[in-house]
Amino acid sequence: MSKIDVSKYFTPDLKQARKRTNQAIEELKFELSDAHKKIGIDKFYFIHTYGCQGNEADSESIAGILELMGFAKTEVEANADVIIMNTCAIRENAENRVWGELGRLKAYKRTNPDLIIGLAGCMPQEENVVERVLKKYQHVDLVFGTHNIYKLPEYIETALFSKERVIEVYSQEGEIVENLPKVRNHKYKAWVNIMFGCDEFCTYCIVPYTRGKERSRSREEIIQEVKELAEQGYQEITLLGQNVDSFLWFGGGLKKDFKKASEMAQATAVDFAQLLDLCATKFPKTRFRFSTSNPQDMSLDVIHTMAKHTNICKYIHLPVQSGSNAMLKAMNRQHTREEYMELVDNIYKIIPEMSLSQDMIVGFCGETEQDHKDTLELMEYVKYDFGFMFAYSERPGTLAGNKMDDDIPNSIKKRRLQEVINLQQEHALYRTQQHLGKTEEVLIEGTSKKNPNEWKGRNTQNTVIVFPKENYKMGDFVMVKVEDCTSATLKGSAVGYSDNN
Ligand code: 5AD
Ligand code: SF4
Repeated sequence: MSKIDVSKYFTPDLKQARKRTNQAIEELKFELSDAHKKIGIDKFYFIHTYGCQGNEADSESIAGILELMGFAKTEVEANADVIIMNTCAIRENAENRVWGELGRLKAYKRTNPDLIIGLAGCMPQEENVVERVLKKYQHVDLVFGTHNIYKLPEYIETALFSKERVIEVYSQEGEIVENLPKVRNHKYKAWVNIMFGCDEFCTYCIVPYTRGKERSRSREEIIQEVKELAEQGYQEITLLGQNVDSFLWFGGGLKKDFKKASEMAQATAVDFAQLLDLCATKFPKTRFRFSTSNPQDMSLDVIHTMAKHTNICKYIHLPVQSGSNAMLKAMNRQHTREEYMELVDNIYKIIPEMSLSQDMIVGFCGETEQDHKDTLELMEYVKYDFGFMFAYSERPGTLAGNKMDDDIPNSIKKRRLQEVINLQQEHALYRTQQHLGKTEEVLIEGTSKKNPNEWKGRNTQNTVIVFPKENYKMGDFVMVKVEDCTSATLKGSAVGYSDNN
C-alpha cells in the first residue's frame, strides 16, 4: 500500500483548538450556488446521528443542505448514495460504536462503488481519529468537522466528480453561519441554537476542543427563527447551547469584551434571562425549554423569568458531575458542592414544582470511596427527576487525558455507576409519585411505543406521560389526569384540551 501524504489534507490540531482568540465572530449567510443545486437529483441520502441535541440539530442542517442540493432522504441505508455519520466524541464507547459502523458500511461499496461515506461531527475534530481514517478507513470518502458543515456542497461535488477523498477539518471555529436550511426531525418540537462552543474546559471534557469558543447568535436571528417555527405550527422550542446561561448578545462582540463595549451596546444587550423573557412574551402559545445550564453561570434572574411565564417549562438540566469538592476541583468545575446545593435550594424556593436532572461522572481520576459517598449524598439531597450517569472515559488531548492518571479500575467504576443508577431510579420513582392525582398539561408527541392505542407526551417537567388516544391528535395540548406511574413514565387519561390549544 502506498504511503499516505497526510500533509495534503486539512487535519485538526488540538493545540490550536484549545486557543481562545480575541477575534470577534463574524456572521456568514449560507447560500447554495446554482452549480450545486442539481447535484443530488435522483440520488438518496441517509444520516446516522450520535450524541447530544447539538448533533441532532446539526444533522437537521446537513439534511437541509443535502435536500437543497436535490438529494432525497431514504429510510433504507442500502439505497443511499451518500451516508453521513454525524458523530460524538464524548466517551470512548460512543466512538467504538462508530468505528464498528464505519467498518460495516464498507460492504455497500461493492454494490454501489459511487457511494459516498462521510464522517462528520465531533470525532473528526480529534487528531487521532483523522489519522486513523486516513490510514485504516480508506473507504471513507469525506471527513469534515463541526465548524464547516456549510461547505458540504463543495465537498460532495469534489467527492462525486473528482473521485478524490475530501478531508477538511478546521481546528478553530470560524463564523456563525446563518440561513442554513433545515429538515426538522419532529413536527411539533424544534431546536433553536442560541450559542455555540464552550469555554469551561472541565478537565475530562473534549467539547471545548470539538466545538470551539463560546459565541452567541444574534438576538434578531434567534427571534426570527422562533417566529418562523411558531408560524409553521411548532408548539415547543428548545433553546440550545453548550452553556446557555453564558448567552450574551450586544451586537457581535465576545462576552469578555462586554465591559469595553459602547454605552449603546451595553444598554441594548440581552443576556439569557432576557432572551427567555423575550421569547416567552412574544410567543405566548409556544412552550419553551432550554439546555444545557452550567451551575456557576445560572443566574437567579433565569429562575425568576421561568416563574413569571407559564410557557417556560419547569425543568432544568443542571449537570453537577460529582458531589465531592475534591473531584469538582480536579474536574475544574467552577462551583463547589455547597454552591450547587445553594442554587438548588433557591430554585426549589422560587419554583417548588421544578424538575431537575443531572449528569454525573463516576470513577474520575483519584476518586475515593468517600468522594463517591459524597456524590450519593448530594443526589439524596436534590432527589433529581432524571439523571444521565457515566463512568469516566479518558479523552486524549484533554487536561485529564494528558496529565492525570485514570487510576480507578473498571470493576470499581462499574460498581459505583450501578449504585448511582440505582439511587437515581429510586429518586425518579419518588418524583413521578408526586404527580399522582394531579391534572397536567401535556403536548402530544406521538404514539406510545408500548401501546398503539395510547399517546405519548410530556408535561412541563419533561416527564413522559401516556394515555388513551380518544379523539386527540399529535400536536394537541391536552389536560391529563395522572393515575399511575413507574419511575420513568406517568399513566393517565385525558380530561380535555388545555387553554393553550
Ligand atoms: N467521560 C465520561 N463522561 C463524560 N462527559 C463528558 N466528558 C466525559 C468523559 N470524558 C459527560 C458529562 C457531560 C455529559 C454530556 O457527558 O457528564 O455533562
Ligand atoms: Fe464539557 Fe464542562 Fe463544557 Fe459541559 S461545561 S461541555 S462538561 S467542558
